Amino acid sequence: MLPDRDMLSDLSTHLDLDRFTLRNPTRRREVTLSSLRGYFSAPAALEKAISDTGDAVVYEVEVVEPKEQAPNILAYGVTRVFPGRVGNECYMTKGHFHADPTCTEIYLALAGRGGLLQMTRDGRSFFQEMRAGDAVYVRGDMAHRLVNTGDDAFVTWAVYPVGAGHDYSTIAERGFSSLVVGDESGAHLAPNPRWA
Ligand SMILES: [Fe+2]
Repeated sequence: MLPDRDMLSDLSTHLDLDRFTLRNPTRRREVTLSSLRGYFSAPAALEKAISDTGDAVVYEVEVVEPKEQAPNILAYGVTRVFPGRVGNECYMTKGHFHADPTCTEIYLALAGRGGLLQMTRDGRSFFQEMRAGDAVYVRGDMAHRLVNTGDDAFVTWAVYPVGAGHDYSTIAERGFSSLVVGDESGAHLAPNPRWA
């Protein structure tokens, strides 16, 4: 049972810098391959990965969010994206637009190798590689998704307004215009065949 902390009085925590876990998140979420149907570009490869791995966890999120929902109230959290691929597409988060496009976000990489895939509403996408210590600023109108391109967990810390809102539906319908794929030569961007 997670603690029921009220308002802004006790929203401090401790980040374990070995395991990258938060001591007292207000919310914790584990996302497995089967909950990412529609997000990875190759459905047959996804079903095979679900069956081969027993529905592996792709990423975990722990956040500290005040109950007060307003654009000027900050929340923060840690995301751990595990290493792996579906077909040749690297493990990633669902990704989202902020429902409120005035709400920006900052990501700081803590461990592993990966990056942030970002996209405008009209489908212009770019990928910024991140290693521990790199911070990326996300504009409020950009969709964003974390991608693990390495062999270990890719861990980030993020700060965002709690009232930003998560619009997953646009990504669920159309995906990102680019995929981050990996092969022997490393990770690179490829056009998403599903993008319309
Ligand atoms: Fe966000």
